[in-house]
Amino acid sequence: MIYMHRELENGNRVLVGLIIIFALLFFCAYGAWTDRETSVFWTTYIAEPEVEEVVKEEPVEEPEEVVLTPDTPMIALTFDDGPGKYTDELLTLFEENDARASFFVLGSNVVKYPEVIKRMEDMGFEIGNHTYHHVKLTQYPPEVISQQVEGTNAELINILGHGAGLVRPPYGEVNEMVKATLSYPFAFWSVDTLDWKLKDPAAIADYIFNTVQDGDVVLLHDIHSFTLEAMRIVVPKLKARGYQLVTFSEMLEVHGVTMENGQKYFECK
Ligand code: NI
Repeated sequence: MIYMHRELENGNRVLVGLIIIFALLFFCAYGAWTDRETSVFWTTYIAEPEVEEVVKEEPVEEPEEVVLTPDTPMIALTFDDGPGKYTDELLTLFEENDARASFFVLGSNVVKYPEVIKRMEDMGFEIGNHTYHHVKLTQYPPEVISQQVEGTNAELINILGHGAGLVRPPYGEVNEMVKATLSYPFAFWSVDTLDWKLKDPAAIADYIFNTVQDGDVVLLHDIHSFTLEAMRIVVPKLKARGYQLVTFSEMLEVHGVTMENGQKYFECK
């Protein structure tokens, strides 16, 4: 009887022991599950990966500023005899294509388009001097040569507060007398498009595409509608071909050329 009692007592102890063990296991598992956000076990092996929020950035409209070096393919488009009634549209075309150019202006036209002259300056275009009345300087005495150039600069000073530092002589006519009279460098060209003679935008554009190379200075005239139309073809296409369209002075400066008074400059090759 005593033995039987002891056996029952032992059986109960085993049962109670098992219940306690299961209870402990249950509480451990339950605790681990409810603590899974902070538990090392759950966060390391079970936790869902955090989804990163994708922030969409507004596209940047400004084109990247190209740092010009002597190795950058570049062309200087230059326009003579203006400003005229198409010049403002030409400035807009260049602006839209992130391009610049040089304008060799006549004093007699500067007075008619002061706002266009201001816009050229504000947009970083170069303004050069092409005399007041488009005269062949070699046919005149020093006083007239001087008046023709300084008269145009006086008109520019009225509008901008300063004159032009470069002269492009009409017809490319320069002699010793002109050189001795004018204290300016002379801006010539390497590609003459003969736009005034071709008169056809596609023909002018084709001539330029077939002729220009890196470092060329291209002669054009902004007083003709066909030249403006030609530029609508030429400017985007030259940019697409990898050319930077720069001013005459920019191109020389990038190539380390310091212009001197009385000297002629044609290109950068
Ligand atoms: Ni001219």
